Parts: sequence; structure tokens; C-alpha cells
Amino acid sequence: MKEGEGYLREAYPVWKLLEEHYEKIKKVHLRQLFEDDPQRGEKMVVEDEGIYFDYSKHRITSETLNLLLQLAEQSALQGHIEAMFSGEKINISEDRAVLHIALRSPRGDSIIVDGEDAVVKVHEVLHKMANFASQIRSGQWKGFTGKSIRNVISIGIGGSNLGPEMAYQALRYYSIPEIKFAFLSNIDGTDFYEKVSGLNPEETLFIISSKSFTTPETMVNTHTARTWLLNHHKNDKAISKHFVAVSTNRTMVQEFGIAPENMFVFWDWVGGRYSLCSAIGLSVMIAIGPENFYSLLRGAHRIDQHFHHTPLERNIPVLMALLSIWYNNFFGAETSAILPYEQYLKLFPVYLQQVTMESNGKCVDIEGRRVAYQTGPIYWGEVGTNGQHSFYQLMHQGTKLIPCDFIAFLEPLHKIGKHHELLISNVFAQAEALAFGKTEEVLRMEGVGEKLIPYRVFEGNRPSSMIILDRLTPENLGKLIALYEHTVFTQGIIWKINSFDQWGVELGKVLATRIAEELKNPAISHLTHDSSTNQLIKKYWKRNE
Ligand code: F6P
Repeated sequence: MKEGEGYLREAYPVWKLLEEHYEKIKKVHLRQLFEDDPQRGEKMVVEDEGIYFDYSKHRITSETLNLLLQLAEQSALQGHIEAMFSGEKINISEDRAVLHIALRSPRGDSIIVDGEDAVVKVHEVLHKMANFASQIRSGQWKGFTGKSIRNVISIGIGGSNLGPEMAYQALRYYSIPEIKFAFLSNIDGTDFYEKVSGLNPEETLFIISSKSFTTPETMVNTHTARTWLLNHHKNDKAISKHFVAVSTNRTMVQEFGIAPENMFVFWDWVGGRYSLCSAIGLSVMIAIGPENFYSLLRGAHRIDQHFHHTPLERNIPVLMALLSIWYNNFFGAETSAILPYEQYLKLFPVYLQQVTMESNGKCVDIEGRRVAYQTGPIYWGEVGTNGQHSFYQLMHQGTKLIPCDFIAFLEPLHKIGKHHELLISNVFAQAEALAFGKTEEVLRMEGVGEKLIPYRVFEGNRPSSMIILDRLTPENLGKLIALYEHTVFTQGIIWKINSFDQWGVELGKVLATRIAEELKNPAISHLTHDSSTNQLIKKYWKRNE
């Protein structure tokens, strides 16, 4: 680590003004802000690209916003956005461009990286994916014994799993019913057992998704899958009909025995957690069909354009990032909740945990100095209304400030009885209750006894954003994904960290490899870990003698 610490107060002249402003505003209640300006709920809204973003229930005034926008300007955000979009190597610790935006650029656009046009390469692969997906969907692709594929198992972890699994679940409504999809990620044998149980190997296709093609979990699961398949077929030639790979590592894919024609490539300028729109989305494309997958890309591209070209004060991801910084760095909020009111988005918070926390969970700034300020908050969440009967108590009456994003769709995919209007009434009600609460006076007027009043007061003043779209479509999912990706980018620029590396996952991997060797060998007389780890290893040996 370099000498000295990174301070945002020194980097940005406006930081001090924000600190002073925070002292003035920290006790101001949202009730007051809404009373002061009866049009606040109409004014503090951005509507663009089919997204209605209401940020009026935040603890801000127009002065706060003005200062936060100055912060974005002082961070030279616009220049950094240009750098990303033009293919500069902004991931400096890995010397890579960051071009997930190229994955959804329309044919005809051009972004040159290392002398080659990234957009041309993207469309070549999309074309190959679409051909393959159509063959699987139509039953034209035959397994080794001539049967069509009925089960697709995607093997991958982290970015090679969370995005595809989330998008598959989110878009199940559009998925081909004749094919079953499963996502195998954990190195826990139970995951393998449960995913393949009852499947006919003759009708099963494995998609091995791994950027590096070296990730232990994925490699172990892949070898187990090969054994499972060959135990049935007893012929190596079956591999070519039942295994395809998605990777940047041609050599390792070939070494495993997957033929080049069964490999779908992507590139080092696509970060794992930003890779859903690349060939990593192959399982999703098979599920929803190439046209729907193209719609997802179109949605993401529309938000890329919005982020690239919209002035900061109407730029939704920029506003989302600034608001999160306001709570994270001034109010001291430690977490942020993602609350989709749409069952199909069940995995969206889980997926976002990697995008946000692997990107911005950093304590060293871009110059290699220890930061003297808070960076990425903890993201978590659950679909509504389930969360309401679980952790919302703490959000309403606990001692912690938890800013949250509500996500909802005006129209349901399944029109069943009154379900949708009840669902939507709940999301609107929660945002209202968090913001405005319930006072002692109101409770008294309702006849609540004095003894109970303290317990029944809702302080309110708990901030939230409301993100509304018309319907959960592939295009709208693409928009939501890009919205959060660019929010994370903006946060990283202001916090002066590299959002695109992830060295923090390395140490555990190395230690696990060493411990795996030791677990196999109880004859080792002298373990050299700390006394706790040594003891744990011995405990394992004893049980597995
Ligand atoms: O968790 C670390 C990580 O490198 C992620 O960034 C990545 O998404 C995941 O592992 C999987 O990596 P790969 O696609 O190379 O198997």
C-alpha cells in the first residue's frame, strides 16, 4: 500500500460544503420537506426510457442535489464515462478495458480495442449463439443417441452464474416450456446431486460457463458432470454432443476436450459480474429465444445511451449513485436494500450483491492508498411482500437507517384476481409509511392508550427510491441491469476506487487449495496454520478416519 491515506475532503472542494449541509439537514423530516413544497412528489421525478424514477422520498433539498451534482462534476465523471465508452483501459490493476456496453451495442457501432472492433466480434458471437440456441429449442440438435435436448444445465459460479440464473428466473414467463433449466454453481456435492437427479443424460446438455476456465468450483463440477455422462454413454465421443463451453480461455477449453465449434467466446474486457450480455447469457438465450435475448440487449443499450448522454441532473444511474453516497458517506448508513415487488425478480437482489459488492467493496483507492472514508455499502434484499413479514420491522422502527430501492411494474404478467393491485398497494404503502411514519398525535386521535404509544410510533424519515416500469419484459430487465451497473460505476468514480478488479477473492482460494491437500493427508505430523485452523483440520481428520 502506498504512503498516506486518500481523503475525499481533499479531493473535492464541495465535500466540506456537503458536510456542513448535512449538519443542517440531518434532522429535517420528510414530512416537513413535503409540506414545504406540495409539488415535491411531481418535481423530484425523472421519467426516461420507460423508467419512472421517483426520488422525492429522500432526505434532500434542491440545495443537497445541487451540491451532490457538483460532487459528480468535480469527480470528472463525464470524462470517466467517455473513457469507459471509448474502450480505454480503465481497469488499471488488470490493464483492461471495461466494455460490457459493447456487448449491447447495435451492429454498425464501432469500439476499437487493441486494434480490433469489439462490436463486430460481439455480433459474430451473438450470431453463433442464436444459431445454436435455435437448434436446441427446435430439437434439431441431437444428443449422442439421437434424442433432442430436454435439460440444460449451466455450470458456472459468480458472474458466470448469478447473471444467467437471475435472468432465467426473471424471464421464466418467456421461457420455452419443453426444456428444463438448472444452474449448478456450488462445489458442495449436494448441488450437483440435486441438479442432475432424475435427468436422462441422453437428453442433457451442459453449458460450462467460466471466463478463466480454471475456477475450482466450476472445474470440479464439470469433471463430475463428465463422469456422470460417460458412466452412461461409455464413449468419449458423447462429450461433443452434450458439452459446450463459454469462456475466454480457448486453450483450457480444448484441453478439457470441448471442440472449438462448441465454444462461445468472450473477451478480457468483459468483467465476470458484467458478463450476462455476453455468451455467458447462452442459457438465457436458449430459454427465451434469440429475439427476446436481443430485446434484453436493446434495453441495456437504451440505458447505456441514457447514462452516456443525459445531463447529470436527469441521469438516473447518476442520481441513484449520488443518493447512495449521501447516505453512505454523510448519514453513515451501512446497508442498502433492494426490494423488487415482482416474484420473478426473486434473485435480483442476490445478483446485485456481486455487481455492487465485488465492484465497490474496496479499501484502497485507485492510487493504491488506504481510503479514509467509507466505500461500497452492503446490498441485500428480498421480494415484496415477503420481506414485509420479516425484516421490515427493523426498517420501520429499528435504530438503523436503511435507504432502499423499491422496484415495481404497473402491469402484471399473470392477471389473477386482485393480486396485482394488492401487491402494488403494498409497495406504495411501504414507501409512504417509511417516509412519513405515524406520530404520537395521530395515535392519540385514534384512541391508542398512553402506555402503548411509544411502541406504536413510527418515526418515519426513512428514505427510499421508487423505480417503476410498465411490465417485466426482457427489454425492461435489460434496463434494470444497466441501471445498476452504471450506478456502481458512478459510485466507484466518486470513491476513487477501481470497480473492475476483485483481488479480494484470491486469498481464500489459495488457502482452500492448500487445506484441501492437507485434508486428504492425515499423516501430516505438523500443521503450520494458526492454532484454530490446525484444530479444525484435525477435527475433520478424526471424523473422516
Ligand atoms: O469470485 C471471483 C470471480 O473471479 C468472479 O469475479 C467471477 O465472476 C467468478 O469468480 C467466476 O469466474 P470464472 O468465470 O472465471 O469461472
